Amino acid sequence: MPGEDVPQLDTGHAHPARVYNYWLGGTDNFAADREAADQAIAANPGILTDVRANRAFLARVVRYLAGECGVRQFLDIGTGLPVAGNTHEVAQEIAPDARIVYADNDPIVLRHARALLTSTPRGACDYVEADLRDTATILGAAARTLDFGVPVALMLLIIVHLIPDDDDPYGIVAGLMGTLPSGSYLVLTHPASDIRAAQMAEMTRRVNERMSGPRATMRDHAAITRFFDGLELVEPGVVQPQQWRPEPEMSSPPLVTAWCGVARKR
Ligand SMILES: C[S@@+](CC[C@H](N)C(=O)[O-])C[C@H]1O[C@@H](n2cnc3c(N)ncnc32)[C@H](O)[C@@H]1O
Repeated sequence: MPGEDVPQLDTGHAHPARVYNYWLGGTDNFAADREAADQAIAANPGILTDVRANRAFLARVVRYLAGECGVRQFLDIGTGLPVAGNTHEVAQEIAPDARIVYADNDPIVLRHARALLTSTPRGACDYVEADLRDTATILGAAARTLDFGVPVALMLLIIVHLIPDDDDPYGIVAGLMGTLPSGSYLVLTHPASDIRAAQMAEMTRRVNERMSGPRATMRDHAAITRFFDGLELVEPGVVQPQQWRPEPEMSSPPLVTAWCGVARKR
C-alpha cells in the first residue's frame, strides 16, 4: 500500500514539489526548499500568483473535460503534494465514477499518497511512484485502474520543464499520447521563457543552483506549442493559464509566466 513505505528524503537540496508547495502556502517543505523558494520570489515576485493561476486552470480544465467532454479517466503525472482541488476531487464532483491515476517521482509525494486515494466508491484512484521518463512503468501501472480502450486525459501540469531537451521531452509526450485512444486529451502547462523574460531567467538560475535533480528548462510559446503537434488544440489555443476559458466571476492576474493548452487526439 503506498504511504506505508518510509521514503529516504534528501532534505539538503530543494525539490520541485516542496518549493511549489511553499509558494502555494503549504507546510510540506524543508529549509532548503524555503530558501530556494524565497530566492525565486525575490527574483520574480509574480511566481506567487502564477502558481495559483495554474491551480485554478487545473480546476477549470478538469471541470471542462469531465463536464462538457465526458472524460472519465485522468492520468495526472507530476502530481505534486496534495492541496485543495486535486484532480480526483474536481473530476469526481462532476462524475463520481471518474478514475484517476497519479504519478510522481518524489518520495515525499508518495508519503502523502493516501490523501490522493480518497476516491468515491463508484470511481477509483491509484498512485504510481515513477519518473515521467519511464513511460512503460507509468502506463503498465496505470493499466490496473484505467481502461486504455476509452479516452484518457493526460495531465502534465508544470512538470515538463523538468525534462531537459537531451531527455527528449517531445518524444515522451508524443509516446504517451500515442498509447492513448482517439478522443483522449493532452493538458499541459509549462513555465514561459518569453514572458517577464529577465525575471524568469534569474528565478530559474537561482532555483537550479539549489536543486539536486534535473535542472528546469524554461521554453517559449513556440516550443511549448510543439508539444501539441498532431493533436487538435481546443479553443483558445496555447495561452496563459488565466486566459484559458476564464469563468465570469473569476478574478485573475493580468499576466502569468506560463503557457498552457488542451488538445484532443483525433
Ligand atoms: C511544480 S509541481 C506541479 C504539481 C501539479 N502538477 C500542479 O500543477 O499543481 C511538479 C511535480 O512534478 C514532479 N516531478 C518532477 N519531475 C518529475 C519526473 N521526471 N517524473 C515524475 N514526476 C516529476 C515533482 O515531484 C512535483 O511533484
